[in-house]
Parts: sequence; C-alpha cells; structure tokens
Amino acid sequence: MEFIFITLFPELIEQACGHSIIKRAVDAGLLSVYCVNPRDFTTDKHRTVDDTPCGGGVGMVLKPEPFSAAIAVAKKRSPQGLIVALTPGGKTLCQKQVEKLAGQGQDLIFLCGHYEGFDERILEQADIKISIGDYVLTGGELPALVIMDAIARFIPGVLGKAASAEEESFSSSLLEYPQYTRPIDFEGAKVPDVLLSGNHAAIKRWRRKEGIRATYCFRPDLLAKANLEEGDGSLLLEIIEELKGKQNE
Ligand code: ADE
Repeated sequence: MEFIFITLFPELIEQACGHSIIKRAVDAGLLSVYCVNPRDFTTDKHRTVDDTPCGGGVGMVLKPEPFSAAIAVAKKRSPQGLIVALTPGGKTLCQKQVEKLAGQGQDLIFLCGHYEGFDERILEQADIKISIGDYVLTGGELPALVIMDAIARFIPGVLGKAASAEEESFSSSLLEYPQYTRPIDFEGAKVPDVLLSGNHAAIKRWRRKEGIRATYCFRPDLLAKANLEEGDGSLLLEIIEELKGKQNE
C-alpha cells in the first residue's frame, strides 16, 4: 500500500517516517511513502501557491493550479489511489473508518493544505474529506500522518504480532485494561496480586473487568456500542458497587 502526500512540506513527512515502526515497515517494503510538492508545479518567479480570497477577507487561499497538477502526478502514479483531503470540515476519523481504509488496501493520496485552506475547486477533486477532530491545526500533514499511522498497524507484518492491532482499544469498543511490568513494587505502588497469581482465568476476568471499568469511567459513550459478552453485565454491576463504596468512604 502506498501513501502519497501532496504537501508543501515534504521534509515534515520524510522526517516523521524516518523512525520506529513506520521506518521499519518502509524499509521492509510493507508500505511506501511518496511526496508530491505542489510548489514544483508553479510557473511564476516566486513559485506562488496561494492568493488572497475572492470577495475579500483575511488570510490566503491555496491556488487550484499547482494542487491540480500535483493531483494529476499522484493519480498517474497510482490511478486507483483514493484522494483524501484533510480538512476540519471533513468527517471525523474513527477506528471503524481506519479499519475500512486498511481493509480496502487502496493507495491513499493525502491532500494536505496550509494557511487559510483550499480553493473549493481543489477540494472538489477529493474522493473523501477527513478531519481528525474538532480543532483546527496549521496544516494537513499531521492529520495525514495520523491516518497513515493508524492504517499501518493493520498492514500484515507491520506490528510484531499479527493479532495485536485487533486486540487494542476501540476495536472492541472497550478501553485497554492497565498493564504492568517489573518492578513489582515501584516506590510503594504495587502490581495487582492477581497478575502475579498465575491463575489465568482470574487474570482474564480481572483484565476484562478493568477494561470495562476504564470505559465506564472515562468513555461511557463507548459502552453503548461495545461488543459486550456474557458476564460483562455482572462485572459492570460489581464496578458500580465498588465506585459507590469509594464515594461513601
Ligand atoms: N487541517 C486543519 N485542522 C485539521 C483537522 N482537525 N483535521 C484534518 N485536517 C485539518
């Protein structure tokens, strides 16, 4: 799977892809990253990529010509590539969409804007528009990298264990249970006894319960759509009783 970034700041992408898991995946040929810089398609002396907004107003707007030319190059490289525009006005990214994009296996062409935003005629060339959250960033590069990172975890071989991506939080709509490693006693904070008991059934139950507890306490909205199993209801009741007990302490 190839990730093509249409960006005025290719160094930002190259830097971000030069470390850790993504670097290893690129080196192993499991995914590839390619940048196209719209500035390379400008024809004026100043290599202008933006201009003032028609109708007036503050800020600058990205011009259609250099971006359209960059899109044409990206499309020539990957005719089946899906054009994804990064914009706060897009559909908010969620794990389900990450899994869908990963499952399609289609190359992605990220359209990264900067300054005040794209001329609408650039956005019209996108197949989909994605936002990574209800806040405004200075550009689309970080959101595009976030999407690539989340998808990369599903590409076979990128993570150590084949199953790890599915086991993580959000795939089951439950948050992760707390994890511990040595030392057993860190400045008086101890690893829960059950994790040292060797009792696999008890450990499994504790982890499930703590995943439910974290979700109930921090993301109760996720519980409604969680894939709950038999026995989860009684774990939740236990948690609620424990929390009530704590409140009365
Ligand atoms: N560009 C600026 N802010 C953004 C956001 N929240 N998501 C995607 N693209 C953006």
